[in-house]
Amino acid sequence: MLTPSEIKARLRDAAAGVEGYLAACLADRGIPARLRAAMEYSLNAGGKRVRPVLCLTTAALFGLPAQKVMPFAAAIEMIHTYSLIHDDLPAMDDDDLRRGKPSNHKMFDEATAILAGDGLLTDAFDFMAGVGAGVGAGDGGIPPANVLVALRVVARAAGAPGMVGGQALDMEYTGRADVTLEEMAAMHAMKTGALLRASCLSGALLAGVDTDAQARIGDYGAHIGAAFQIVDDILDEVGDEAEIGKPVGSDAEQGKTTYPSLLGVERSRALARERADAAIERLSPYSGPDADFLRSLASYIVDRAS
Ligand code: IPE
Ligand code: IPE
Ligand code: MG
Ligand code: MG
Ligand code: MG
Repeated sequence: MLTPSEIKARLRDAAAGVEGYLAACLADRGIPARLRAAMEYSLNAGGKRVRPVLCLTTAALFGLPAQKVMPFAAAIEMIHTYSLIHDDLPAMDDDDLRRGKPSNHKMFDEATAILAGDGLLTDAFDFMAGVGAGVGAGDGGIPPANVLVALRVVARAAGAPGMVGGQALDMEYTGRADVTLEEMAAMHAMKTGALLRASCLSGALLAGVDTDAQARIGDYGAHIGAAFQIVDDILDEVGDEAEIGKPVGSDAEQGKTTYPSLLGVERSRALARERADAAIERLSPYSGPDADFLRSLASYIVDRAS
């Protein structure tokens, strides 16, 4: 296992590669200037880049190099960024701070924020499909049959059966005092777990792995996804605003049921740790630096302060 500072350094390095790609990927596409500025404002505002790094790492674990996968991994970050822009809107969580900067609708306006999200989500499919044709993906591209299954996994995870459905349940549950642990866990699995699972699984699918590996990597992603949202809820209560780059106390203010509101911080952290351990267990057949990094990332997700 890597030490916490080694994990952070490796995540930063991997994230830097994604940042480099994201910085230029919306240029020369004929996007109207203000819309492009709004899309780039949120896309290039920082963020941990956990999802694209997971996709790149599971692909690498099965022998597919980063330069072929990068546009696909970046597309997942575009989808994630769109979800954050919409999540912050007044009609949703009504948060004014994101990634340490004014939220998209505060910096621009609501209509532009909605459209920037729409643009990031839709253009992501262009980038994902492109790796099958070798567009920006190094020579030769990835076998189109692999791209198609990976793209479908991401589409379903981001869509109404996944993240969008989870966000709908989150809205439905907001202000309700009788949300059960089971309801909340199912909502988390959709709103956050689905895209994290798809980030991991899509990398493996692009590499064309067998069904045993698909199940293992998918489970790993679902477990770390559950741990990720538990810790996100904990940090909303006890985190440091400068560190997390978004408001502390937003969930309580909005009347959200969260793991810490139901179980307290300590039991919530223990549950997150259990899910990270279960994730690590699913990786038992794999060795080498990429497998070690994935195991370490599972732990980092529980211990993170941002
Ligand atoms: C925040 O995600 C939203 C959730 C799904 C919990 P991240 O914590 O990955 O946010 P960034 O990308 O680092 O800003
Ligand atoms: C959001 O959950 C999950 C998304 C799909 C965006 P939160 O509403 O808790 O995310 P933050 O805390 O605003 O990042
Ligand atoms: Mg929300
Ligand atoms: Mg929110
Ligand atoms: Mg939150």
